[in-house]
Amino acid sequence: MGASRLSGAALLLVLLSLAQAGKNFWLFRQYVLRLQEKHAMKEAYGRLQLLAQGPGPRAWHFLDSGSIRQPLDHFNWQDSRTFNQRFWVNRKFWQRKGPVFLYIGGESELMEYSVLSGHHVEMAEKYGALVVALEHRFYGASINPDGLEDHNLQFLTSQQALTDLLSFHRFVIQKYKLAENTTWICFGGSYPGNLAAWFRLKYPHLVFAAVASSAPVKAQVDFTGYDKVVAASLSNPVIYGSKECLAAVTEAFSTVDNLVRARQLAKLAKDFRSCEPLEGMDDSVQLLYNLADIFMGAVQYNGAFSFLPTVADLCSVMTNNRTGSTYQRLVTVNDRFIKTLGGPCMDYSFADWLKVLRDTRVTEASMLRQWFFQTCTEFGYYQTCDDPACPFSHLMNLTSSLSICPQVYNISFRRVQEAVAFTNDYYGADHPKASRVLFVNGDIDPWHVLSVLKNQSLSETAILINGTSHCANMFPSSPKDPLPLVQARQQISTQVGKWLELARTMHQDS
Ligand SMILES: *[C@@H]1O[C@H](CO)[C@@H](O)[C@H](O)[C@H]1NC(C)=O
Ligand SMILES: *[C@@H]1O[C@H](CO)[C@@H](O)[C@H](O)[C@H]1NC(C)=O
Ligand SMILES: *[C@@H]1O[C@H](CO)[C@@H](O)[C@H](O)[C@H]1NC(C)=O
Ligand SMILES: *[C@@H]1O[C@H](CO)[C@@H](O)[C@H](O)[C@H]1NC(C)=O
Ligand SMILES: *[C@@H]1O[C@H](CO)[C@@H](O)[C@H](O)[C@H]1NC(C)=O
Ligand SMILES: *[C@@H]1O[C@H](CO)[C@@H](O)[C@H](O)[C@H]1NC(C)=O
Repeated sequence: MGASRLSGAALLLVLLSLAQAGKNFWLFRQYVLRLQEKHAMKEAYGRLQLLAQGPGPRAWHFLDSGSIRQPLDHFNWQDSRTFNQRFWVNRKFWQRKGPVFLYIGGESELMEYSVLSGHHVEMAEKYGALVVALEHRFYGASINPDGLEDHNLQFLTSQQALTDLLSFHRFVIQKYKLAENTTWICFGGSYPGNLAAWFRLKYPHLVFAAVASSAPVKAQVDFTGYDKVVAASLSNPVIYGSKECLAAVTEAFSTVDNLVRARQLAKLAKDFRSCEPLEGMDDSVQLLYNLADIFMGAVQYNGAFSFLPTVADLCSVMTNNRTGSTYQRLVTVNDRFIKTLGGPCMDYSFADWLKVLRDTRVTEASMLRQWFFQTCTEFGYYQTCDDPACPFSHLMNLTSSLSICPQVYNISFRRVQEAVAFTNDYYGADHPKASRVLFVNGDIDPWHVLSVLKNQSLSETAILINGTSHCANMFPSSPKDPLPLVQARQQISTQVGKWLELARTMHQDS
């Protein structure tokens, strides 16, 4: 199994997007993971040409898009400012009087694939649903030109985002002349998975049921569980991990850690191809995060994207004891990854990272400034190495992770703690008292530990899939899917069918 199977098109996309965003060329923490996700979606989109049954715009007559005007602040009637919010609609499978499937956008731009591809679209075909999707405020095309300035970021909250769905609901009913009793079911994965569960929780009169995939509904400042799952996954034989692999990774990072503590920065810069000399602890910790990200990304997206290394790829390099020390093997893993990104070097400058987060210029690809703001003001989710089981460097601690909140947004540590506690009180953390919500997770996905893993009641249920990763159940079905994933999708589809049947009976009763 070779590592770094990057197609030319993917490479181009990564490089172009980085260049367009005006970002430092090789900076990749978080950002590249997003781009890779986007690329995978585009791949799926290629297959959709079949759906349209022919080239040319007329074949796509079933796809609608546009934008609706929304108040910038739903909760202050004295503020009349607005922004335009983008939506997508797919009428291809819609049978009049059929249900509406709402796909909720999240922390990146939302493209037309959101209504054209994925398991919810397959279910729309089965159940004759109208598929609609709304981009999240402050991301993609749904942001004002001055939206990223400090004084506007206050309007970027999950409460505002959920409230945006109200007017979209009204808009869709009017535009498509739907009956008021039309059954809505909402879908989302990752942060939008939270929104799907919370939309049902807070607005049960608008949406009949929700499927929340890989939804970290429990906010947490020090998210130590993430790297615990990464460790478990690196030693999980189901995905070709092993104890030897985990041991090799742990040893390699411990060597790097010792070099950092011994201030061997010139050696580290050379071995790990730093574009600039490493300066001080901040850059060193940035290097450690970037190296860990390669492993975190492999676990979080294991196999979903053809050009990202899988756990199997990384473990085959890390356990190959004919190629020198574990440190040397980590250098090899990093070399290959940098090659995948098409660069000769990597930017580990913490100052550059802060510059990116402080950049208020708006492009459709901007997301880092917004998302990290949301982590400081609502969710935390800092993937630290504070747990003893974490295989990476323990210098990746809460202090270093949290430092962006005061440095970029002038938000103190205490405020972050308070905000996270509020989020959990407001939505109910991992035991929300909702009904008709199905939580779906994969057990090798590091995010699953913040989600709902057990049935909460007869109508708030959970599926934990053996051996799959982040949002795997949302991707289109493929013949290569493992059995537990196939079975989970069947269960989800059956549940959706039962909800629709229940909705029909309830309407008849009334
Ligand atoms: C190298 O790895 C092989 C197989 O993983 C193992 O059998 C062997 O004992 C290892 N050699 C050393 C020197 O660790
Ligand atoms: C956290 O890590 C930083 C380096 O980023 C280090 O200077 C600091 O001492 C660590 N703090 C704790 C509490 O371990
Ligand atoms: C940062 O926040 C503090 C307290 O909220 C405030 O007093 C201070 O003026 C802020 N600094 C800047 C540069 O905005
Ligand atoms: C959870 O609920 C579902 C649906 O009612 C049921 O099929 C499943 O067996 C339950 N799981 C557990 C562990 O009770
Ligand atoms: C997951 O599947 C593997 C086989 O692929 C099996 O060995 C393991 O016991 C399963 N785990 C659970 C929790 O069912
Ligand atoms: C909505 O109400 C109409 C009558 O008012 C009924 O005929 C129809 O079946 C209902 N639709 C659903 C989805 O229950």
